[in-house]
Amino acid sequence: MLSTLKPQPADKILELMQLYREDPRETKIDLGVGVYKDSDGHTPIMRAVKAAEKRLWEEETTKSYTALSGDPAFGAAMKSLVLADSVDHSRVAAIATPGGTGAIRQAFELAKLMNPDVTVWTSDPTWPNHLSILKFMGLENREYAYFDSETCTVDFDAMMESLKEVNSGDLVLLHGCCHNPTGANLTLEQFGEVAELIADKGALALVDLAYQGFGDGLEEDAAATRLLAEKLPEMLVAASCSKNFGIYRERTGCLMAVCEAPLQAPVAQGTLNYLNRQNYSFPPDHGARLVTMILTDPALKADWMAELEEVRTGMLGLRRQLADELKRLTNSDRFDFIAEHRGMFSRIGATPEEVLKIREEFGIYMVGDSRMNIAGLNARTVPLLAEAIAKTCR
Ligand code: LMR
Repeated sequence: MLSTLKPQPADKILELMQLYREDPRETKIDLGVGVYKDSDGHTPIMRAVKAAEKRLWEEETTKSYTALSGDPAFGAAMKSLVLADSVDHSRVAAIATPGGTGAIRQAFELAKLMNPDVTVWTSDPTWPNHLSILKFMGLENREYAYFDSETCTVDFDAMMESLKEVNSGDLVLLHGCCHNPTGANLTLEQFGEVAELIADKGALALVDLAYQGFGDGLEEDAAATRLLAEKLPEMLVAASCSKNFGIYRERTGCLMAVCEAPLQAPVAQGTLNYLNRQNYSFPPDHGARLVTMILTDPALKADWMAELEEVRTGMLGLRRQLADELKRLTNSDRFDFIAEHRGMFSRIGATPEEVLKIREEFGIYMVGDSRMNIAGLNARTVPLLAEAIAKTCR
């Protein structure tokens, strides 16, 4: 039977990671996969994570199973981090998942369980793996307009126009902050309008929150999610701890289902637990436990927040430097949007040919759609990238 298998399409982002590894040039620059790197190109373990791991090693007395939902304390900590007091937490069911991707997958599974004919609306563009998972699951996918590739900003009018076609029972996937891959985001006011439309249509919102703390701040980046939670009777949130806690390989995420009333939450919780059981039984615990320890210990939390803030402001500084450098080199404000975008990524509007040229001639790796990971830069490499862009992009 194995001989019947056909090669699967390669994931563009992971494929690029491999190409970068194989490039022998010492001057190469990796702006591909969404992993934070410091100015030495290293992805550090955050101080609070290291301290929590040390404590866990000393204090943990068993590796026996937790609960199908994951440790309930993790769910409680994540509800506070993401939703704060926007909703009564007794309305919210939560499960730990293997990373944010696990939460997305489980959200799609839940949507399918509620409505086998569900149409899932995604922004054009979105994280390619959203589309890949939907296709793999055989779910209907429609795209809503999002990005204006001329101005590299959100085309909100076009977005609202396409969302008019959303039907009752559809799932609308929104990026809570730091849109991946574009870096262009809705204002809070625009999120409010989207919420009203979703409520009017009787659709369900799914917020993908993978970069809380990487955009405008920990609270600011959750503001849209909280606004939606306040305005909508129910919604789903897939939160990732990979980036903001820097625990990528620990696979730590959380799916939250905000129910209309506390009475519905136990059934929603039971269903989420069931979905965990069907897919992988108990979710991974190590990363979730570290996150819980950090979020519930004032000293660890303060240190984590301080380090996260350094990461965030460092990326903002690189954005500013790159935009300034491009302004100087191109003698235009064409690339000013780079300083306005938020999060790890910016889509700069280069053609696939230009992206390839930048890779081949300058050894600078960005995703084929011209998404670059700002955190892959440092003060020394920003001018090199600016020069490559200015020389290559028409
Ligand atoms: C990315 O978009 O680069 C990250 O979310 C990593 C991944 O798994 O694709």
